[in-house]
Parts: sequence; C-alpha cells; structure tokens
Amino acid sequence: MPPRRHTAERQVFSRIARRYDRVNRILSLGRDDDWRRRAIAHLPDGVVVDLGAGTGAANPDFGDRTIIAVDPAPEMLSLNPALRRVVGKGECLPLADGSVDGVFSAYVFRNLDSIARTLDEIARVLRPGGVAAIVDLGRPESRWKRTLHRIGSAIVLPVVGFFVGGFSEYRYLHRSLDSLPQPQDIYADAPLNVEKIWRMGPFGFVYGVVLKKPPASS
Ligand SMILES: C[S@@+](CC[C@H](N)C(=O)[O-])C[C@H]1O[C@@H](n2cnc3c(N)ncnc32)[C@H](O)[C@@H]1O
Repeated sequence: MPPRRHTAERQVFSRIARRYDRVNRILSLGRDDDWRRRAIAHLPDGVVVDLGAGTGAANPDFGDRTIIAVDPAPEMLSLNPALRRVVGKGECLPLADGSVDGVFSAYVFRNLDSIARTLDEIARVLRPGGVAAIVDLGRPESRWKRTLHRIGSAIVLPVVGFFVGGFSEYRYLHRSLDSLPQPQDIYADAPLNVEKIWRMGPFGFVYGVVLKKPPASS
C-alpha cells in the first residue's frame, strides 16, 4: 500500500481536540468506550503503547497496565492525563525494539500516512509474543449496507460539524471512512499474525483486530 499524504488532515485533530470526545460520544451513540474495551480485553499486562492516544479516552480501561501515550498532535496530548506522553507518529515510533508488551490503537488507522510502515513499527517495538489490538471505523462489508451508511454519514457528519463549529473537519471524517479497504485486506500483509477480526456497531461499520508477534524461536 503506497504512503498516504494527510498532513492537512492530521491538523484536523489539533483543531477539534477539545470538542472531539463529546462529539465522538454522540456520533457513536455512547458506544465508543464499549468498542475500545472489547479490543483492550485482548491486551497483555505490562507496558502498553496507546498509539494515537489523543486526549486519553481509553485511559480508565487499561487497568494496572503502564501506558505510553503516543500522538503527533501536542494539543491532543496536552489534554491527556497519562503519566508517560510522547509526541510521535505510528510510522516512526520513538521506542526501542522489543520494549513493550502491547500496542493499542483506537480510531487512528484510517488517518495514518502509511499503514504498512506503522505495522512494521508495531512489530519492531513489541516483544516476542506481544499483542496489538486495533479498533477503527470503516464501511460495512455488504454493498447495500455500505451505500446506506455512506449516505447517512454524508448527511449526519457535516450537520454535526456545522453545529459544533467544525464543518470541514467532520466532512473530512466522512471522507476518511472511504479511504481504506476492508480490515481482512488491510492486515493480510502485516508482519504480525492476525488472531481475530470482529465487527461492531450499526451495520458493522466498526471493526476490531488482534495481531500477535510470534514468540522468539528457541
Ligand atoms: C480520532 S482520534 C482518536 C483518539 C483516541 N485514540 C480515542 O480513542 O479517542 C485520532 C488520533 O490519531 C492521531 N494521529 C493522526 N495521525 C497519526 C499518526 N500518523 N500516528 C499516530 N497517531 C496519529 C491524531 O492526532 C488523533 O489524536
């Protein structure tokens, strides 16, 4: 998959940082936490990177794990109460090889410049046997559900954006839903084993995936 250029779009998150969580809650009908939790349940104990951590919406669900919040937008990270916060991108993680037990990422993958490079980086920083759990939005699998969902988000997202003062940002979120193939294709070439993929939300437009780094051969 070729690298994707989204510099302007990445600034979206800087501009909407403060109202992001509230609007996300409304758009997901209050389910965004549940969808994160289902992925977090697959993570091991120990040190976990929250990749694209934003304002730290997932923090309460990590339990006793040690969290390293990584995000390229300092405006988002400044609102994140995690103790360890690092400005950085998925494509170039500022972490040592094999240094973490798990990687979590919610609602980030469709915004990345390069999914392939980010998956390489996740594989690099995970210890052997480590686990990555990813959740993101996309389009439903079946054609008619996809069409209905596209019409719905074309109307709903700009309207919500208009009322919260971020029309162009939420139009971008609508467009970003079309930017990627289905998850089984996105992760097929990952340098990690695909353990599980599941669907959530209306029409299954949210997906979760669990990836595992093979244990070191003895
Ligand atoms: C939709 S928010 C999700 C925030 C948080 N994970 C949550 O569940 O609420 C997407 C986040 O991804 C970050 N992001 C954008 N491009 C990124 C990249 N290349 N690497 C890592 N994070 C990125 C944005 O700054 C933003 O904080």
